[in-house]
Amino acid sequence: MADDTRRLTVKIKRYDPEKDAPPRWEQFTIDAHPMDRVLDVLQNIKWQQDETIGLRRSCAHGVCGSDAMRINGHNALACKILVKNLKADTVTLEPILGLPVVKDLIVDMKPFFDHYKAVMPYLVNDEPPPTTERLQSPAERARFDDSTKCILCACCTTSCPPFWGDGKYVGPAAIVNAHRFIFDSRDRGAAERLDILNDAEGVWRCRTVFNCTSACPRDIKVTEAIQEVKRVMLTGHIDLEASAEAVEA
Ligand code: SF4
Ligand code: F3S
Ligand code: FES
Repeated sequence: MADDTRRLTVKIKRYDPEKDAPPRWEQFTIDAHPMDRVLDVLQNIKWQQDETIGLRRSCAHGVCGSDAMRINGHNALACKILVKNLKADTVTLEPILGLPVVKDLIVDMKPFFDHYKAVMPYLVNDEPPPTTERLQSPAERARFDDSTKCILCACCTTSCPPFWGDGKYVGPAAIVNAHRFIFDSRDRGAAERLDILNDAEGVWRCRTVFNCTSACPRDIKVTEAIQEVKRVMLTGHIDLEASAEAVEA
């Protein structure tokens, strides 16, 4: 074993719908390099020790959002957590909470995407298009820049206690994606979106727990975005321009 190699004990929550009820924990021992990501560790276990482990991943670089899981009790993308940053040599890996488990670390994302689709996450504008593009100032573009960074990984929504309750809360990811268009000066669908989010399962179910902001791998200010949407509902005013500092940032 090389000097800087760490011997990890990896506990994975396993669930095979044809065999396991309830889910069971399985433990593996593996050597890992400090610069390996948790995703590397998991894939090495799968390739070297148990090929039946179910996980989802694609880009391995924090872009596709497909490998969200609970790592030591906190939601994260497995491809963004380095072994050198793990506090202990024992690691627990579980599927994200609040969505049905399909197998091991794979969950059914359909309820999550149903909430996303419900908020009309696309530009609405029936006005005749100009001969060039629909122009926007730097301040108008900066206004919703943070919420454009979402990769729909579900780390936020599945770390939110009100969502765990019954899965009906539209959830922070859907609100962030509604925010992205509500504050876009080119969009004309804000009133309809706000109406949808004013529902009993909309923004008012947020209890400002902040788990969503802590979990977001894109460092989006999720709770702040939710607060901004609530403020629009209370005041009826949509501020479509970012501050000068935000434009410069
Ligand atoms: Fe993932 Fe962040 Fe988007 Fe939530 S807001 S889905 S945590 S990228
Ligand atoms: Fe949930 Fe985030 Fe609100 S964790 S309660 S959506 S601040
Ligand atoms: Fe794509 Fe991790 S595998 S974000």
